[in-house]
Amino acid sequence: MKKVWIVGYGAIGPVHAKALEYVNEAALYAICDINESKRKLCRETYPVIEYDDFDRMLTDEAIDSVHICTPHYLHFEMVKKALAAGKDVVVEKPVTMTKAQFAELKKLQGAEKICMVLQNRLNPSVQKMKELVQSGELGAVKAAKGILTWHRDKAYYESDAWRGKWATEGGGVLINQAVHTLDYFSYLLGDVASVRANMFNYSLEDVIEVEDTFTARLNLENGVKALFFATNAYAETSAPYFEILFEKGNARYMDGQLWVNQQLAAEDTAPVLGKAYWGSGHNGLLKRYYDEHQYFSISDIENTMETMFAMYESAGNGGSTVLTGC
Ligand SMILES: NC(=O)c1ccc[n+]([C@@H]2O[C@H](COP(=O)([O-])OP(=O)(O)OC[C@H]3O[C@@H](n4cnc5c(N)ncnc54)[C@H](O)[C@@H]3O)[C@@H](O)[C@H]2O)c1
Repeated sequence: MKKVWIVGYGAIGPVHAKALEYVNEAALYAICDINESKRKLCRETYPVIEYDDFDRMLTDEAIDSVHICTPHYLHFEMVKKALAAGKDVVVEKPVTMTKAQFAELKKLQGAEKICMVLQNRLNPSVQKMKELVQSGELGAVKAAKGILTWHRDKAYYESDAWRGKWATEGGGVLINQAVHTLDYFSYLLGDVASVRANMFNYSLEDVIEVEDTFTARLNLENGVKALFFATNAYAETSAPYFEILFEKGNARYMDGQLWVNQQLAAEDTAPVLGKAYWGSGHNGLLKRYYDEHQYFSISDIENTMETMFAMYESAGNGGSTVLTGC
């Protein structure tokens, strides 16, 4: 039985704790948060050992596995230290905030063992889309598009100081909310070779430094041209939409259901442990990691990360074509 430590008990830390209840081979053992009220929340539900300092906690030899659930800017350093201390590592997205950090991480000993949290890959609808692409039953893929229209307002960005800033969040809607939708392209269809992208701040100019809206054209290695649009400036948070056009029809993922040629083909039914649209896959992901020893590795998410960095570079250069690759 692996003893797990969660560092960061804000929005997603408690989802990891709850998800661990579905796992046989691991259990929550310790919690670390710099905020006493967050630690209190955890201690009221679980009999955990508490720490308020990451480095001190790393010296606890009883801990086998570290779940990094802190703000983006802390991930890279925490991952490096946890690997160096010989711990198993599960890290929330994004594992790094920059392309240079990602390149450095790939070279570290133990990097391939890190379990990356892109839990939406395991949604039944996403798995069904993968099956459809791989089986070829609808012919070759002709095109694809991913759309995310969410609502994140001033109150959301002001609730935590790290949000909305380049130095601490590393970007806006793309790196945080829409990365799952972006991930579907390379996970389902194969590597993205180059991108052209633009970013905007439509509604939160006086609140955040980063973008609230992103558009991109993704050129896949297999020749498929795909489109991506994501915004936090919509009036409500709607279900992400992903569509694949095949030679013999289409697959449309919407409202947590997959429709293939207008017929219901799959439905996401996992219990929702966090917010809608991201709170239902962690139990499956952690069960798969601890009980079945399967996980998404740094290689498995490499093209998504490279595509994301290329999109920021392209958008920063007025929409020029940027090749993926570190
Ligand atoms: N996989 C998903 O779908 C998903 C969903 C939501 C959030 N996330 C990711 O989870 C991470 C955390 O997001 P969140 O929304 O929970 O953020 P949050 O701000 O709600 O929580 C972060 C927690 O980390 C704590 N913290 C900050 N610095 C610390 C330090 N040095 N040591 C220990 N604790 C520290 C804070 O006190 C806070 O409780 C982000 O990377 C985010 O992108 C992933």
